[in-house]
Amino acid sequence: MTFEKHKHYLWSRSGWLLNEEAELLYYLATRATGTMVEIGSFKGKSACCFLRGTMDGSGQKVISIDKMQRYNEYDMEYTSILAEFKKNIKECDRLGLSTLIMEDSNTSHVKIKDDSIYLLFIDGGHEGVQPKNDYENYLPKVVKDGIVLFHDSTNPSEFVDVYNLIAAVKKDDRVEFLGQIRSISIFKKR
Ligand SMILES: C[S@@+](CC[C@H](N)C(=O)[O-])C[C@H]1O[C@@H](n2cnc3c(N)ncnc32)[C@H](O)[C@@H]1O
Repeated sequence: MTFEKHKHYLWSRSGWLLNEEAELLYYLATRATGTMVEIGSFKGKSACCFLRGTMDGSGQKVISIDKMQRYNEYDMEYTSILAEFKKNIKECDRLGLSTLIMEDSNTSHVKIKDDSIYLLFIDGGHEGVQPKNDYENYLPKVVKDGIVLFHDSTNPSEFVDVYNLIAAVKKDDRVEFLGQIRSISIFKKR
């Protein structure tokens, strides 16, 4: 299966993923052999990339973690964000693979078993210690050879805390740096 038949739908979802990033998530999901977890879902664009991908692959679970609280930066009420998330997931999840954990990522990690995640996408809070907290709290949940992705991680003038975290993660013996595609940094857990 190729991205071609999904691209118009996925590219037109509301969110911040660039086209190449949506394509990357889709292709990684086609090859996923276990559960995918995203921290930060917003209206479901990345979740739909994972769902469409894994449905063209081996049909793995997709867990979305988002507190779905008022998103001040854009002055949007969470009720409208949640409604669009549900609408998008309904359109993408024909096999019932999606679960939403509507909770702060700082507490929801206790609901995820160690060594149970094949792919982790970190795209929740971008400021202060939050990206580091998400990395530290969820890395133990990722299986050996599992994939860890950080969104918005390559431009210090946009998200300096995520950018600085990547410099530290590159030195972390627990993971291997595989490369970057647009704003996504890609690591493999050792
Ligand atoms: C950049 S958006 C995610 C975009 C999404 N991945 C997409 O493809 O459109 C960041 C999301 O993270 C959520 N978020 C921020 N801090 C969080 C936290 N501590 N716990 C859970 N969700 C959080 C926000 O509610 C927001 O929906």
